[in-house]
Amino acid sequence: MKLLVTGGAGFIGSVVTRMLLDAGHEVVVLDDLRTGHRGALAPDATHIEAGIHDAGTVLTPRAGFDGVLHFAALIAAGESMVAPERYWHNNTVGTLALIDAVRAAGVPRLVFSSTAAVYGNPTELPIPETAVKAPTNTYGATKLAADMMLTAEAIGHGLAAVSLRYFNVAGAHLDGDVVLGERHDPETHLIPIALEVAAGRRDKLQLFGDDYPTVDGTCVRDYIHVSDLARAHLLALDAATSGQHRIYNLGNGNGFTNRQVVEVVREVTGHPVPVEVAPRREGDPAELVASSALARAELGWEPRKPTLRDIVTDAWAFYQAQVLDRR
Ligand SMILES: NC(=O)c1ccc[n+]([C@@H]2O[C@H](COP(=O)([O-])OP(=O)(O)OC[C@H]3O[C@@H](n4cnc5c(N)ncnc54)[C@H](O)[C@@H]3O)[C@@H](O)[C@H]2O)c1
Repeated sequence: MKLLVTGGAGFIGSVVTRMLLDAGHEVVVLDDLRTGHRGALAPDATHIEAGIHDAGTVLTPRAGFDGVLHFAALIAAGESMVAPERYWHNNTVGTLALIDAVRAAGVPRLVFSSTAAVYGNPTELPIPETAVKAPTNTYGATKLAADMMLTAEAIGHGLAAVSLRYFNVAGAHLDGDVVLGERHDPETHLIPIALEVAAGRRDKLQLFGDDYPTVDGTCVRDYIHVSDLARAHLLALDAATSGQHRIYNLGNGNGFTNRQVVEVVREVTGHPVPVEVAPRREGDPAELVASSALARAELGWEPRKPTLRDIVTDAWAFYQAQVLDRR
């Protein structure tokens, strides 16, 4: 297939791009590099340095695209509470512009990066796709709006749409010479921050809140290895069906508290990780754990690296490779 990958210079989009190329697809990456990295771009993909609001210049009827995988977004839940307009403009208005371009060009299928943040504070655990959607932060709300647009587009115009609702994506993609991992700036995700502390590049790790109703008072999250997550996108492309919007949660179904994650980072790296308790962050749900039963049943998806130790080990390998690169 000829595929457009928005956000292909970012963490997850760059990994999926490699897998699509390995599977024999032709890939064009649309990424304005606002948070992505030129070095993460796949040499065998064509890169167009432009924003998703201008997707119509790339997705023309003549260009002959068979599908779009849409990763481009702003992703920091905390920031979305202090600069909400940036999130609505990029994640929701930008996605509408992309869907308009998809329709105008007659592109048949689209796979979208949705998020566990659409559920807010869940009323059932593990969370099925049918759970109440009540985001507690603007980031989750902008993604839920995009999900709703895709449902309408499938019904109204026959798009074959799939939303994958990722839980906490971590680890790194290590495949021969290809080493791709998480490099957000500023980094807001727990595992890469804990690794920076283990490596001595930060003094301490802040734990946002220790008075949540969980076993040790810190938030519980479900971590999924980026390579496992990426494989689900290829399955989703195959499963996409005209006129349907399919939605799948992707996580391992195991929750770990922030303190438990820090303990695994200490074990894997062999270094201390000093922590400091900070106030809760606005909009952080106490516990998010996925039921991925539907993805397993309908897509045939199976994680190959489901343990937190595997995930942290690969993230640490990426971190060390990056440090060597900088020397
Ligand atoms: N990382 C996670 O744990 C996680 C969890 C749930 C959902 N997601 C979703 O997965 C997707 C990818 O996340 P990531 O961690 O790879 O983020 P990332 O920041 O590493 O990658 C996002 C990429 O999109 C590009 N981009 C952003 N806005 C753009 C625009 N308007 N036009 C063109 N390019 C633009 C950036 O330059 C970057 O390369 C996002 O949609 C995010 O909401 C991520």
